Amino acid sequence: MHFQTTIEPFRIHSVEAIALPDENQRETALERVHYNLFGLHADEVIIDLLTDSGTGAMSSRQWAGMMLGDESYAGSRSYYRFRDVVHDLTGMPHVIPTHQGRAAERILFTETLTSGDVVPNNTHFDTTRANVEYQGAGALDIVIPEGLEPDSRHPFKGNVDVQQLEKILADDVHRVPLVMVTVTNNSGGGQPVSMANLREVREVCDRYGVPLFLDACRFAENAWFIKTREDGYLDRRPKEIAQEMFALADGCTFPAKKDGLANIGGFLAMRDARLAERCRNLLILTEGFPTYGGLAGYDLEAIAVGLEEVVDEHYLRYRIRSTAYLAEKINAAGVPTVQPPGGHAVYIEVRSLLPHIPQTQYPAQAFVVELYRIGGVRGVEIGSVMFAKPQPDGTETAAPMELVRLAIPRRTYTQSHIDYVAEVVIEAASHTDEIPGYRIVRQPPWLRHFTAEFAPIPR
Ligand code: F0G
Repeated sequence: MHFQTTIEPFRIHSVEAIALPDENQRETALERVHYNLFGLHADEVIIDLLTDSGTGAMSSRQWAGMMLGDESYAGSRSYYRFRDVVHDLTGMPHVIPTHQGRAAERILFTETLTSGDVVPNNTHFDTTRANVEYQGAGALDIVIPEGLEPDSRHPFKGNVDVQQLEKILADDVHRVPLVMVTVTNNSGGGQPVSMANLREVREVCDRYGVPLFLDACRFAENAWFIKTREDGYLDRRPKEIAQEMFALADGCTFPAKKDGLANIGGFLAMRDARLAERCRNLLILTEGFPTYGGLAGYDLEAIAVGLEEVVDEHYLRYRIRSTAYLAEKINAAGVPTVQPPGGHAVYIEVRSLLPHIPQTQYPAQAFVVELYRIGGVRGVEIGSVMFAKPQPDGTETAAPMELVRLAIPRRTYTQSHIDYVAEVVIEAASHTDEIPGYRIVRQPPWLRHFTAEFAPIPR
């Protein structure tokens, strides 16, 4: 089509009212939740860009599929339908359903890691890192240097630094039970990994005899970026590209709440039969029997349909374009974001936006609070609250970047919602000198961003 507008390739079939809390209600809510937006009631939020995880709209085909759910405890028909779709996509013979991605991570790492091991990854997502560290192992982030430069326009900023990987394996391969690659690289800005880079990682892993696992979270978005940015892929279907990505891996963890287009679910898939057996045994202990893994039969149906829909070209074109649309709009008004825009989210680069707030006063958290205060928009901090490490002397290591992520739920908001978000961001960015820094008044020992409590530091 020669028209410029990329339309949503769906029409709305059922609607959900949006709450419209006023300014006073939002200020009261902020005080009640100690400036941690995870504590808000969803009905206190106008546009919820906290996460793209499990928050998307399912299609009428998915809802119809749910009516076919077989709730048999063992051997459910829905499991076999789910397994066949996953197998077709990944080529992996062992498909273990889990209630979400982190359950797959926990099971995989429990069975593969021991204290003192290390896992290299382009960038571990926070649950992945926590699950590695929970086993007493080290989570090493080895994204290419461009991946840490918000302004760099490298087309595949999620790529693994293959030289660093080689060095880690050469130094002590026995401490590395597996290598992971996260597609797309969520914590680094939703940036893709190229097929060429995956091939190089595979080659290094082969040379050292180390298995390669994908955190396949947003595999379809990654496939679209390969199609549109990497030589030789423009004429390939997204599904074929995804199949080629999975063919390079020995296994994967998958949270179906993102590119599974489902509200819950996930899986662990692999080629190694012996490891799969150990994982299934652990699955039974905490998740459930291997043909449901903590999910209802109808969830397995919804994921099976979602995995077919997510590789649709029209969907992916709209998806990636609608994220870029938000980034372009706020960039045009001078708000810096990680470039180029990611697949599932826009990442506002806060260090240059709020230079007066030092990293020790959590500038990205400050901006997250401001977006909610003035416009009821809920984003998430991806900076020192999430990644800085408290040290024994009471100080903290700083995070490499201070970002505010505006994650776009799939097939949920329309262009006018996104126009509103852009307006709110632009207004918040126009009075940054009035925004205070924050201090943490309470925090748990890990994953503190979910529950930490903050207080503003009077200016
Ligand atoms: N890996 C990546 C790259 C993720 O982004 C997530 C979750 C997980 C693993 C864990 O999956 O939530 O199903 O257990 N990301 C969500 C987010 C929570 O907001 O980015 P899960």
